Amino acid sequence: MDSKQKQVVEFAAGKNILLDLESTKILSEQENFEEIIDSFLKENKTVLNAVEVNERINSEKTKIEPQEKIIVKKTRFNSIAKDSSSNLKILTEFDVTNQSNSSGKVENFLSLFRDKYTFLKGVLSKRSQLNAKPLSRLSKVPEKSEFDTIAMIQKKWITKNQHIAFIIEDTETQCIAIISNQNAKLFEEGNKILLDDVIGIKGTKISNEMIIVNEFFWPELESRPLTKPEQDLDVLIISDTHVGSKLFLEKEFNKFLNWLNCNDVSEKEKERIGKIKYLMMVGDNVDGIGVYPNQYDELEIKDLFEQYNKLEQFLLKIPEHIEIVMIPGQHDAVRRAEPQTAIPEKFFPEMSKMNNFHLIGNPSWIEIEGLKTVLYHGASLHDLYDSLSFLSPLEPHKGIIELLKRRDLMPSYGMRNPYVPEKKDFMLIREEPDLYFGGDMHHVGYGQYKSCMVINSATWQKRTEFQIAQGHVPTPGIAIQLELTSRKITEHKFMSAEEEE
Ligand SMILES: [Fe+2]
Repeated sequence: MDSKQKQVVEFAAGKNILLDLESTKILSEQENFEEIIDSFLKENKTVLNAVEVNERINSEKTKIEPQEKIIVKKTRFNSIAKDSSSNLKILTEFDVTNQSNSSGKVENFLSLFRDKYTFLKGVLSKRSQLNAKPLSRLSKVPEKSEFDTIAMIQKKWITKNQHIAFIIEDTETQCIAIISNQNAKLFEEGNKILLDDVIGIKGTKISNEMIIVNEFFWPELESRPLTKPEQDLDVLIISDTHVGSKLFLEKEFNKFLNWLNCNDVSEKEKERIGKIKYLMMVGDNVDGIGVYPNQYDELEIKDLFEQYNKLEQFLLKIPEHIEIVMIPGQHDAVRRAEPQTAIPEKFFPEMSKMNNFHLIGNPSWIEIEGLKTVLYHGASLHDLYDSLSFLSPLEPHKGIIELLKRRDLMPSYGMRNPYVPEKKDFMLIREEPDLYFGGDMHHVGYGQYKSCMVINSATWQKRTEFQIAQGHVPTPGIAIQLELTSRKITEHKFMSAEEEE
């Protein structure tokens, strides 16, 4: 048996398919033998003979679309990234994986809100402009005197006279706060305040139950110099591959993997690719099963394990010196409610054995070359777009900046995005991130907020019927490369011109 035949036998064995010698020989002469073998998987075949293999090759059915062949060279190329050791730290304390212990009881909700209030109060208390007092002290100070406080928004409405009114509360009591429409700038910013937001208020006491807001503060990030990475290496960010969907852009994804393996690229491009040390996959890695009504008809692969198996075959083609970090999204094989735990290793039996593959929760925190990074797929942004009309899914970075301003990835609870009331609020932005990587919107977006760079990656799925109905135009087939030293972004586009039409 020659080496090609051995390769065929090993590939088939990996799929639990046995071949006789004749079919092994025939398949070894086929460039796309993997696809041919895979085509039998859907029929639950375990043993193949030469007759059926020949038939499959000759039949129209097996005229499997010639996929771009990915050449994975053993000694791929010399590059900075290959010669550098990785500097990747996973901050497990901020990941719900292995820490989920909610029973969904009232106590869980109470401790979640308490945790959120306590943390954000701590952030706001550092502001020198605020001399915050508990709301219980309001009755003790004279009317018209200044009264600063830190409170959570419990209710919001517009009064008959068109002012904004809130019921605000701390851990002990509550009162009413008013933003007057006479102060146009404050009124405009006040419109952005959402239910469950925690803000710092500089106000004036009107009565024992009411204060007028003169100024308010978000628990936002501080301005600080940019953190310098320890090595001059790059990160590649992708998301929403949706493997298993009929609309998965397989040809383009293969092109991307070929590019990542430096096949048919210029020397200059090789140098650029050679700096990639990290690949982030920010959720919706497969299309999943039963995620929405009638999804079954839109699936190319109708079995969850097979969807992940197909994804794993792609991942195995990624050069091993690249650290792959993967979080789940709403379509992955974990609970739909956030925070989400990591995708179980059983879905990646081969990749899980490799040291460069990391499955973590959503949201998660990591440190790349010393840069603190938040990874969040982004489902809460749908609710944010409903609440804040100035935002658009075509500019996802702007929505993300609103989350960063609130130090909270899910500012309002009880809206469309389901959540699990864990004892600790895993959605809080407890540290000051240098980088934020998101997905979900199937649309790229870039922004800078204080010293945090925001990158939203797009998708490898064609425009869906749902998106057409919504009028949403995605930006598929783009891999985003970020140079950590300069924070320079390069978009690598893999869509062919006719596909883009
Ligand atoms: Fe998606």
